[in-house]
Amino acid sequence: MIKTKMTELLGIQYPILMGAMAWITTANLTAAVSNAGGAGVLGAGGRDENWVRQEIRKTKSLTNKPFGINLSLQTTPLRDKLVEVILEEGIDFVTLGAGDPRPFLPRFKEAGIKTVCIVPNTKLAKRMEACGADMLIIEGMESGGRIGNLTTMALMSNVLPEVSLPIAAAGGIVDGRGLAAALIMGADGIQMGSRFLLAKECESHPSNAKAILAASDTDSVTIGWSRGKGLRGLKNPFAEKYLSMETSGVPTDQLGDFVAGCSKRVADLGTGEDGMNGIVQVGESLEPLKKIQSAAEIIQEVTEEAKKLLKKAPQFVSQ
Ligand SMILES: Cc1cc2nc3c(=O)[nH]c(=O)nc-3n(C[C@H](O)[C@H](O)[C@H](O)COP(=O)(O)O)c2cc1C
Repeated sequence: MIKTKMTELLGIQYPILMGAMAWITTANLTAAVSNAGGAGVLGAGGRDENWVRQEIRKTKSLTNKPFGINLSLQTTPLRDKLVEVILEEGIDFVTLGAGDPRPFLPRFKEAGIKTVCIVPNTKLAKRMEACGADMLIIEGMESGGRIGNLTTMALMSNVLPEVSLPIAAAGGIVDGRGLAAALIMGADGIQMGSRFLLAKECESHPSNAKAILAASDTDSVTIGWSRGKGLRGLKNPFAEKYLSMETSGVPTDQLGDFVAGCSKRVADLGTGEDGMNGIVQVGESLEPLKKIQSAAEIIQEVTEEAKKLLKKAPQFVSQ
């Protein structure tokens, strides 16, 4: 057990959240992480009401431990329907990103659902604290998937002293060294996405895990900055084509058409023989990602390594 404000708030054994991953984090992986003492998070990105209802129910049938669901808050009619389904079904917590969570916080709170806001800078972190969020995730640009502009180290340096809510650090953290470092920096835990792409229970197409196992740190690339936000994954023909379209000034709506549906395609089918289905979204800390393990083995290895390192820390201090 590692006790922090985050484990107390969420009622979990270890301060590890599984980062939600759209089209990837389903009931099996979510329940496996929660059963192992972390907290699994269903990814509702791109999904409809039926999927959300069914997957919450399925996860509840697989675990009696706390788990959450990630909701993207861009204004769409579907978003409001998903909020209603989550309120009806009940869940331990929601992680909220990609939009303004403020209108939704009171309703989740009334329903006893804890609210965890994903923030990219200090200003928004303070604003979410003032609006009554229960916890924050600070997600640095080392992360796989959609990213902001600040690194995880800069976010920890900037945000942690300014906010007293429990905070999980995310982005480039893949092992016990990262967990120990985050706790020593003053975070209350971590969120990992990439490491769980190598979990046995992960249902992303097997070729994606294979590509991650073979990757080295220089294989990471970001596309999409010209459309406002980067998307990090592995270099491949799709990424090269996108970058050449971006540098040659192709209009943003055409770039949008080019990437539309690529997360689902890659999760379901892999990047394809010609590498043109999309990119394998994964973070920058690629070198340590060298084995497939169960979610329980991942949680155990990360927490044991962190405990060892934390116990060693006092040796650096002379009286
Ligand atoms: C394939 C993939 C899909 C992701 N999808 C989402 C998502 O739907 N919603 C979200 O809030 N974050 C998403 N993320 C970010 C993760 O939840 C997590 O914060 C991130 O992976 C942490 O950095 P790491 O990849 O270095 O562990 C995604 C990340 C990856 C790798």
